[in-house]
Amino acid sequence: MCGIVGYIGLSDAQPILLSGLEKLEYRGYDSAGIAVHNGKKIDIVKSKGRLYELKKKLSSNNLKGNLGIGHTRWATHGIPSDVNSHPHTSNNCKIAVVHNGIIENYLELKKNLSQSIFSSDTDTEVIAHLINKYYVPGKIENLIDAILKVLTKINGSYALAIICEDFPDKLIGVRKDNPLVIGLGENENFIASDITAIVNYTRDVYFLDDEQIALLDSKNVTVFDKNKNVVKKDVFKVDWNVESTQKGGYDFYMLKEIFEQPKIINDFISLNLSDNNFLDKINLSNKQIKKFNRIYIVGCGTAYHAGLIGARLMERLPNVFVRAHMASEFRYSNQIIDEKTLLIAISQSGETADTLAALRIAKKNNARVLSIVNVVGSSIARESDNVIYIAAGPEIAVASTKAFSAQLMAFYVLVCNLYRSLEIISEQQFLQMQEKLRELPSLVNQILSCENEIKDKAQKYLSCKNVFYIGRSLDYFIALEGSLKLKEIAYLYSQAYAAGELKHGPIALIDDTILVIGILTQENIIEKTLSNLKECKSRSGKIFTVTSQIDNKVKNISDDVFVIPKTHEIFEPLLANIVLQLFAYYIANGLGYDIDKPRNLAKSVTVE
Ligand code: G6P
Repeated sequence: MCGIVGYIGLSDAQPILLSGLEKLEYRGYDSAGIAVHNGKKIDIVKSKGRLYELKKKLSSNNLKGNLGIGHTRWATHGIPSDVNSHPHTSNNCKIAVVHNGIIENYLELKKNLSQSIFSSDTDTEVIAHLINKYYVPGKIENLIDAILKVLTKINGSYALAIICEDFPDKLIGVRKDNPLVIGLGENENFIASDITAIVNYTRDVYFLDDEQIALLDSKNVTVFDKNKNVVKKDVFKVDWNVESTQKGGYDFYMLKEIFEQPKIINDFISLNLSDNNFLDKINLSNKQIKKFNRIYIVGCGTAYHAGLIGARLMERLPNVFVRAHMASEFRYSNQIIDEKTLLIAISQSGETADTLAALRIAKKNNARVLSIVNVVGSSIARESDNVIYIAAGPEIAVASTKAFSAQLMAFYVLVCNLYRSLEIISEQQFLQMQEKLRELPSLVNQILSCENEIKDKAQKYLSCKNVFYIGRSLDYFIALEGSLKLKEIAYLYSQAYAAGELKHGPIALIDDTILVIGILTQENIIEKTLSNLKECKSRSGKIFTVTSQIDNKVKNISDDVFVIPKTHEIFEPLLANIVLQLFAYYIANGLGYDIDKPRNLAKSVTVE
């Protein structure tokens, strides 16, 4: 949620920290701050508001030094304010700390310290005071010991970057249940909560594991476990390039990412379609899959919506119970989980706390875990038995777009292979489906080339205050996703309803102020959804239909129609969703919102 960056090297730390924070601002953005060691002591500047507020403060007060830590915050404890911004320090300013996560027992720990030393409402500040309390000035080992002791006291999740006045050339990072990567440079090293922050400087990274502590100077990085044993880490080479983290001429990352979808789908196809061993690769051969009698699919937000589609498609597998769960609810669902269970965890970031928690419950109960993840080396990927990487590149906009399409591609390729392997479809049908998958990039391009048409439709509905999205089966899941996009970036109240449920209550709300967006792609149920749209029309609702099946009936009841290309019907929801992405984008754009950084939201939700 928040972002961390740390630098030690020969260059000025401040510009490197600020450029890292710029890249991290999408993770949290209500305040920011940096601490730089000037050789004698630690200087700190922090500010409520967006990063430019911090930059404004720094323009008249540049911090000089080669060691520093920075943070962009998404408030959990204490309102966004200058004092609650990170870094936080011990009262003698010897220790400075930035933190992602939540210290659950901070109030209890605070009680045992003098109240007068606290200046903020945050849970983080207690860490700085405790390190200072246990630290016996002297060698760096003493500082490590103090930090390790604090780790035994705190409960919760954390990624921390720490500096100390006594060590102008040492940077420390430690994590538990919150991601932290160590970037390895030449005569410089980095810490970051997210690779994006440091990819301009290095592609060689270590991923810290839980309760590992990294000690960095400009030349070396040593990683210890919680018992101070040195741990050997493998260097991981990041293949994201710098351009992929830039806007590339688009007004917003979201629009750039929407337009990247044909390429991403194509990449996914090239990587996975020609591969006859797709199921072997993920260890789900015919024999393996027959072992499972339950498949649970978990994810949050957009990833959950992809999971709903995946689950509906997997319900065709014989003798297996399939259900998608919101990861945040999974633990309350009293599901049977054992060695005959397959859990599919979907997450763009690979760090979402609820999804990770669901994964751990499954593992604890001996289930097999397959994850569908974008970020290589993320916690969910590392803790899974098998991973399908969606290879969508960095997704910066908070509202997920390209990751969703790539997650659907993962399910499409997975189910096509499973259907064939379990003889649900013939070899010929399998080849036909593959052919249709190969056509998808060009079909998505066709829709994107109608950007202006979708923009014009969005302009018409700018004054709308309430929007219903309706559909049945796969179309309903796309309705959920379309509605989420509109809420996230345009702050419009919108609701997705299974079309058949409308008359069981919500239809009471329909009048001429309401826009109803109907998604009609599934041939066998189109007539039924059409009837539901008619019911809305007769109550004066405005109707916008997104469909692959245009005819006079559709035209007659719709105020607006967007026709998507026809393809295999299970792939059409992906196409309909592209229209809804652009629609939400142009509503938000027309209303003048900061689309990449919607209020109250964070890209990666690393607290439960
Ligand atoms: C947050 C984001 C959503 C995202 C969800 C799951 O809520 O705002 O866009 O879908 O987290 O994230 P994940 O990284 O697990 O896919």
